[in-house]
Amino acid sequence: MKAYFSIFLFAVLLIGCSRDLSVSSPDGSLRASFELQEDGGIGYTIERDGMTIIESSPLGLMAEEVPLGNGFHLIGTKKSHTNSAWETIWGEERIIVDNHNRMLIELEHESGVKMNIEFKVFNDGFGFRYLFPEQSLKTLTITDELTSYRFSQAAEAWSIPWRTEYYEGLWSKRIIRGASDEEVSSADTLCSPITIEFGDGTYGFVHEAALTDYPAQNLYVREGALRTYLTPWRQEDVHPGHEVKAYIETPFSTPWRMVVLTKTLQDMVASRIMLNLNEPCKIEDTSWIRPMKFMGIWWGMHIKTMTWEQGPRHGATTENMERYMRFAAEHGIDAVLAEGWNKGWEDWKHFDFTTPYDDWDIDYLSRLSKSLGVEIVGHNETGGNAADYEAELDYIYRYHADHGIHAIKTGYVAPIIRTMDGLQWNKGQSGVRHYRKVIEKAAKYHIMIDNHEPVMPTGLQRTYPNLVTQEGVRGQEWNAWSEDGGSPCEHVTVLPYTRILAGPVDYTPGVFKFENPVIPTTRVHSTLMNQLGLFVCFYSPLQMACDLPEHYMEHADAFKFIEDVPCDWEKSILVDGAIGDFCIFARQGRGTSDWYIGGITDEEARKAVVPLNMLEKGKTYTLTLYRDGEDADWESRSYAYKIEEKEVTSADTIQVVMAKGGGFAAKLIEIAY
Ligand code: NOJ
Repeated sequence: MKAYFSIFLFAVLLIGCSRDLSVSSPDGSLRASFELQEDGGIGYTIERDGMTIIESSPLGLMAEEVPLGNGFHLIGTKKSHTNSAWETIWGEERIIVDNHNRMLIELEHESGVKMNIEFKVFNDGFGFRYLFPEQSLKTLTITDELTSYRFSQAAEAWSIPWRTEYYEGLWSKRIIRGASDEEVSSADTLCSPITIEFGDGTYGFVHEAALTDYPAQNLYVREGALRTYLTPWRQEDVHPGHEVKAYIETPFSTPWRMVVLTKTLQDMVASRIMLNLNEPCKIEDTSWIRPMKFMGIWWGMHIKTMTWEQGPRHGATTENMERYMRFAAEHGIDAVLAEGWNKGWEDWKHFDFTTPYDDWDIDYLSRLSKSLGVEIVGHNETGGNAADYEAELDYIYRYHADHGIHAIKTGYVAPIIRTMDGLQWNKGQSGVRHYRKVIEKAAKYHIMIDNHEPVMPTGLQRTYPNLVTQEGVRGQEWNAWSEDGGSPCEHVTVLPYTRILAGPVDYTPGVFKFENPVIPTTRVHSTLMNQLGLFVCFYSPLQMACDLPEHYMEHADAFKFIEDVPCDWEKSILVDGAIGDFCIFARQGRGTSDWYIGGITDEEARKAVVPLNMLEKGKTYTLTLYRDGEDADWESRSYAYKIEEKEVTSADTIQVVMAKGGGFAAKLIEIAY
């Protein structure tokens, strides 16, 4: 058994009790200072290179039992330093360094409630959380969180509104801090995360980490500060006059509030603060968790040539699944998803997760899966009935495991889900608990989870690496049926810097047929090469190639890139990019010397210049370049592409033009002499 390991480069050093209420990053550039006001109010400031980045901003929680915004006195402080490294089970890189200084502020409230605040300051940002140690007070009913961020300079945030259903919206940029106080807009309440472009050209990413038993945070602007709005518990009538947000039992720790602060976009994308703030892996035997590429009986339903429910165009038939599985086996694709295999799709009221339709022979398919070496990805659409699903998890997962199924895509299509606590926001505390229980239970049966309609990821995959990917994005499916014509080209050039910084995304790239039989005016705003570029730019260890086998065979030479590209990496580098304009990633396949590069652009054509200095010096590689044709563009010439091959070394540079809505992909394989 191999779980995550830690190499301690430096021993965790306890610096001891101190009255200095500040803590700096290991390189000394960032400094967080805790503030205790005269009335016992609590707050903090952040400086970088001696300049204030976050001005004095409030901290604290409001509880029905007692307001915890002021009335505190200091009991003690503890500081320590950690510089360690841990190995990921899968990820954008193998080794993650966790280098931070920690400060624990121990407080006692005038009511006798004990509350501590733990800060961790890294070279590229910081996190803090509230801790309630063991004490005589056993429960608290949280009604608000006062955590704020008063940025000292102009700031614009890429964001989506907090009520965006399933987070499936187009991100846009709004002012959250004007050049002067008067200019501050009271923007909508926003979903966490937000990505900030500061006036001085630096970047910020505000999110949370380790959300396991608390409502998801949202953010809004008031009087020049970004403030926290916790997703409410939906039971307003039980607590007239105010919203309850969370029920907590001591000892308890809230999720981490975190802000990445970097001078370059490259550094922001490379930040691993969120993962470092999550707990190490809790699954002992992780040998069964493996990144996979998969195809699926899926796109056909979205373009309406197939149906989920049984009938003349039923997608998930034994015959169709066998066709997909044989295709996958021939083309080196690890697994095939089938949606609509089980009863319940007629009315979406009572999905039965263990009873197949008559035209689905699970025993035959599970034997075929073994003999072909192609896994089946199960599908459990709950229609938002999380409570019934949760009640039967053991039974459902045993059924899947017995049929050799080790990955399940879950679904919660309903803006309000029914949890064990009644009708709730999926990102309220009750929904958050449900999703965590699903991951824990799935691990028991060696099942990986691809969660659709999830709560926004917060790095839980470090603790539960069977949570391999999640939706929570306006994904490819919108390009099949969205009446607005499909997502604009810009959309995919925003996601790597926003949603995907929160965690792996099941966007489902790889459309190879752009004509839309459902809504002719809707299409994927992309060239075929842009679709290839997504396989490198969008990180997901369970990566879907979403189109139909016959569409792939129309461009078999381009499909070869999808066959070859891995979905688990040794190293990842953002080569170049600009939020909402373009993105170029280079990634090294895990355990290999091979590199893959992907580029995508918005509606503007651009030249990509990629120095190959990431390659090992002195080695020669075969470069296979998949690029837009000279006359390509997403609107009328999506299929125009060229494939070129040549030998290169680390001294070479790839120069390639990405067409409007276009992109490129490159494979670099070391030549063994
Ligand atoms: C929405 C999901 O995003 C999609 O992938 C799935 O096909 C449908 N729900 C049905 O479960």
